[in-house]
Amino acid sequence: NWTLKGYLDRHVEEIRARVGTDHLICALSGGIDSTVTALLCHRALGERFHAFFVDNGLLRKNELPEMERDLSSLGIPLEIIDARDLFLDRLKGVADPEKKRKTIGRTFIDVFVREARRRGTYRYLAQGTLYPDVIESVSSFGGPSAVIKSHHNVGGLPKRMPFELVEPLRELFKDEVRRLGRELGLSDRFVSRQPFPGPGLAIRILGSVTPERLHILREADAIVREEVENSPLRSELWQYFAVLLPVKSVGVMGDARTYENVAAIRAVCSVDGMTADVHYLDPGLLGRISHRIIATVPGINRVVFDISPKPPSTIEWE
Ligand code: XMP
Repeated sequence: NWTLKGYLDRHVEEIRARVGTDHLICALSGGIDSTVTALLCHRALGERFHAFFVDNGLLRKNELPEMERDLSSLGIPLEIIDARDLFLDRLKGVADPEKKRKTIGRTFIDVFVREARRRGTYRYLAQGTLYPDVIESVSSFGGPSAVIKSHHNVGGLPKRMPFELVEPLRELFKDEVRRLGRELGLSDRFVSRQPFPGPGLAIRILGSVTPERLHILREADAIVREEVENSPLRSELWQYFAVLLPVKSVGVMGDARTYENVAAIRAVCSVDGMTADVHYLDPGLLGRISHRIIATVPGINRVVFDISPKPPSTIEWE
């Protein structure tokens, strides 16, 4: 007789039993998965639970201040670690999607090891890994060639880990995590937030990641978010975002020729991220998004709309 309350109680007990008198650290991203993980672990361990937020330089526009405000209201003590330079440095020239994911996963762990050592020796690391992350990263039947993407918090992690992982959401799908979040007292605004992948904007920039490309994508993505969030659509969509395609095409601005990048818009409906349908945005909304991006984001002169469902495509482009 499975209930969310039962799940919660069982995992709080399990964490207490497993961690004993030790300390547990957790990477908070401000997303629903890591936030619910943190609330659960905080409930289990109180002051022996420590939450870090790693600023990897791959966040969306205004994400850090918004996240700080939201998380501080939950009563979880949080430390912000500025690791932007390290991530961007390690990502220099890395264009392959899997290599990007693995580089980011490893860098996360390195930052954690460093921060944990700085504070004494912490043995346990909590992560908001969900069931779909586990099955898409580690195929039980197809061998390594069947790995679709190394979600940075599962297959993207190094083989030798200096931490023992605590993953209380490992048996759950996203919709169940949302319900658990409500059970733990999270507001609707928090619970209905769109998912944002751990590797952040890096997997929405095809090819290598540079500060300039990040800036362009951040601005374009902020326009997509703002337009969708100001429309009644917001609660219907699973995700809506921009992807930067560093493919140049010719355009015209005033009477001058331009030769700039392409932004792709993605808008999908899904229940758990395992499959997704394209949501054909209203032409008026799409037109506004396209117009604003091209008029105000230097570096983009063309906007396209991605009409590929999952499968056969995936939601993220990398
Ligand atoms: P795909 O692109 O595989 O994505 O169709 C399915 C869902 O998972 C999110 N996603 C991730 N989430 N770490 C995460 O925490 C990751 O490495 C990662 N990669 C993709 C994606 O945004 C979508 O909601």
